[in-house]
Amino acid sequence: MRVLENGYTVKDLGIDSINCLANLHKNSFTRGWGAHDFALFLQDNKMKVLGAFSNGDKKPNAFLLVRCVADEAEVISIAVGPRHRRKGVAEGMLDVAIDTLYDKGIKELHLEVDETNKGAVELYNQAGFEVVGERRAYYQGKKGEKASSALMMRLMLDEI
Ligand SMILES: CC(C)(COP(=O)(O)OP(=O)(O)OC[C@H]1O[C@@H](n2cnc3c(N)ncnc32)[C@H](O)[C@@H]1OP(=O)(O)O)[C@@H](O)C(=O)NCCC(=O)NCCS
Repeated sequence: MRVLENGYTVKDLGIDSINCLANLHKNSFTRGWGAHDFALFLQDNKMKVLGAFSNGDKKPNAFLLVRCVADEAEVISIAVGPRHRRKGVAEGMLDVAIDTLYDKGIKELHLEVDETNKGAVELYNQAGFEVVGERRAYYQGKKGEKASSALMMRLMLDEI
């Protein structure tokens, strides 16, 4: 558990959080994952699931899912409740995850992000990730919009 400078507490989440996680996901992505998906994630011992809590809140206001395989890890999803954005919550969760992964011997952290998700791309740039590849036209555009690329980003944990 870590208390961030902004007052939010970041800690590991348990199976009792699945409904809150599904709600946060639904409010942040077009295709929401359900409680069943999160139940599977929380039972997977390769998965690290962090939540951020504002002062006094019993339910998480944000989450970060990371999967670890051998000495690499991947950000599976990150979301911050709309009322809690631009307060350093995502940055704080990433910091906690990076420290924990580094201590476990993880060397590289990977992720994929839609090139049009400017806020997320900026978040990852600020955290030190670099673009190492691109999957063209990976994300289907909304009606009338063209498909966008997935940027593959990587952070070398022993270089920060
Ligand atoms: C992307 C997301 C996780 C960012 O969470 P957040 O807690 O608001 O981010 P932080 O406050 O920690 O931001 C840290 C830095 O990232 C960048 N950033 C974050 N959101 C941004 C935005 N909307 N526009 C531009 N830059 C942004 C900024 O550099 C910011 O630092 P600053 O506020 O000092 O300028 C949040 O907007 C979200 O949940 N979006 C919906 C789900 C999503 O898109 N997840 C990412 C999928 S890859």
